[in-house]
Amino acid sequence: MEGAPAEPSRGFLPPFRHFATQAIHVGQEPEQWNSLAVVPPISLATTFKQHAPGKHSGFEYSRCGNPTRDCLEKAVAALDGAKYCLAYASGLAATLNIAHLLKAGDTIICIDDVYGGTNRYFRKIASDMGLKTVFVDCTKPECLEAAITPETKLVWIETPTNPMLKVVDIQACAKVVHKHEGLILAVDNTFMSAYFQRPLALGADICMYSATKYMNGHSDVVMGLVSINDDALHEKLRFLQYAIGAVPSPFDCYLCNRGLKTLAIRMKQHFQNALAVAQFLESDPRVEKVIFPGLPSHPQFELVKRQCTGCPGMVSFYIKGNAETASTFLKSLKLFALAESLGGYESLAEHPAIMTHASVPKADREALGITDTFIRMSVGLEDSEDLLEDLSQALKAAIPDYKIRN
Ligand SMILES: Cc1ncc(COP(=O)(O)O)c(C=O)c1O
Repeated sequence: MEGAPAEPSRGFLPPFRHFATQAIHVGQEPEQWNSLAVVPPISLATTFKQHAPGKHSGFEYSRCGNPTRDCLEKAVAALDGAKYCLAYASGLAATLNIAHLLKAGDTIICIDDVYGGTNRYFRKIASDMGLKTVFVDCTKPECLEAAITPETKLVWIETPTNPMLKVVDIQACAKVVHKHEGLILAVDNTFMSAYFQRPLALGADICMYSATKYMNGHSDVVMGLVSINDDALHEKLRFLQYAIGAVPSPFDCYLCNRGLKTLAIRMKQHFQNALAVAQFLESDPRVEKVIFPGLPSHPQFELVKRQCTGCPGMVSFYIKGNAETASTFLKSLKLFALAESLGGYESLAEHPAIMTHASVPKADREALGITDTFIRMSVGLEDSEDLLEDLSQALKAAIPDYKIRN
């Protein structure tokens, strides 16, 4: 039986059945090893002995397939409710492989509020290979529909978006996309992780991750993952994985596979801590506005509850004051590390306008809402009372009490 969702997740989709069990057991069967090892070994061999020319026992050369990577891919496929999963050297390597499904002259529709590296890859690299990208607000399916042309071959969405945490209705987008034969819908599921959202079940063709974040969850691996159900799409992507060669190392596969074993309990705790942080900030007069998809104040709260089993540790907010106030707050944090990235067990905070989104022109940043007082946090797994205490002392340092009264 599934455990009852934690109190704050009431109203969300129920947890995916057997998730924690599958994370621990699928692809990990001891019987696949002569040693009956309970923990999959790190298989470092680059090549595998063949019984006769062309007759191998499943593995021939490690770029094409590796036993440790195989364990990870099987586990992730199960967690995504997918038939197949493919692992890559990074999230962007996964994106690159997906883009290689297209040919010169094709068009990509990409959500307008997207991870900066994805934006940079589509705009600056894929464009030189003859792929055109148009950026569209896919939170409005009618805008997506209006943007589709006969040249459109891939629709790329991210939900929630980074750093504004806007939520996209995956099912509504899939409905629009699948009116057009051959058009593929890819969803970057990095922020939600497999625990909170299943894009394939909602109609997406591809579910992609920067596994560098929650899926590995320990801030010590850079990796990408792609899950799919369609046999033909899998065959094409499997070919590209080995032909392009952007594969992860067996050691990284081992670490990510290990990270998955605690994904369910980590995500539940991230949700609980993030909700405590979001509620704390929302009630503080020094805070202008909090953005957390798990709060009733989030404009798409109803959609989030319909689409997800809960919310991850990503909380964004506007501090009252100016750039200096935001900077003092961030410098005063003691437990939250001032750093980019997200999804690890440790709490992080950052200033998107100066850090992750500095390359976005100021006017575009402001149009998106990334102002000088905007702060993004990845709430980790520490004791929530310690996190709240840290936020409280940093707010006090940034905005001394007398300023609140004035
Ligand atoms: C939402 C999202 N997608 C993709 C990526 C790229 O992944 P990676 O850094 O593993 O290449 C990131 C990285 O921050 C991200 O946040």
